[in-house]
Amino acid sequence: APSPVVAPSILAADFARLAEEARAVEDAADWLHVDVMDNHFVPNLTIGLPVVQSLRAATTLPFDVHLMIEDPRRWAPGYADAGAYNVTFHVEASDNPVSLAKDLRAAGAKAGLAVDRDTPIEPYLDLLPSFDTLLIMTIKAGFGGQKFIPAMLDKVAAARRHVKAGHLEMRIEVDGGIGEDTIAQAAAAGADAFVAGTAVYGAQDPAEAVRRLRGIAAR
Ligand code: DX5
Ligand code: ZN
Repeated sequence: APSPVVAPSILAADFARLAEEARAVEDAADWLHVDVMDNHFVPNLTIGLPVVQSLRAATTLPFDVHLMIEDPRRWAPGYADAGAYNVTFHVEASDNPVSLAKDLRAAGAKAGLAVDRDTPIEPYLDLLPSFDTLLIMTIKAGFGGQKFIPAMLDKVAAARRHVKAGHLEMRIEVDGGIGEDTIAQAAAAGADAFVAGTAVYGAQDPAEAVRRLRGIAAR
């Protein structure tokens, strides 16, 4: 199995010092998870394209952009153009996920499909060959600092079975409430990419927190 990816979420960082906060995990993290919220798809507002464009020059970390927005077709390709490594949008917000995934890949990014807490995964498993990442929310999307929902691991396990059976080359990512107490369960269920906001930026030493998380996930 490929080694686990840890993606600190800058949602839990100090937004007045984004460049420094990104650099604080640069040597330890695999990706930097960037949560884009529009106060429509979710009842919260964060950052958008101009901030991501500026931040791109401030760190060498690959950006894992998580779009929690309506109308991803309008905005997602801009993040690919801005140099995002992976651009993930929500299946609940898209009427043609496969077509948008194609556009993202054509723009030079990996394409990710996100599934929120109340969305079953089975209807979408057949779309996975068009994607590089499947992001399974382990909370309801919208806010950091929420409690991990263990029942979501059934979706992770179902996705892992499907990925294995189809020999698909993709990451299964979990997002929400991931920390030292929950990452092992998520890894056991089949996740191999782990978003962590509070568990990284709430720690005394964010880089060390990333290394510890990866260590647990790799066991
Ligand atoms: C919430 C975001 C998450 C958030 C996770 O909708 O998608 O990425 O930052 O935060 P923690 O790790 O604190 O649950
Ligand atoms: Zn996220």
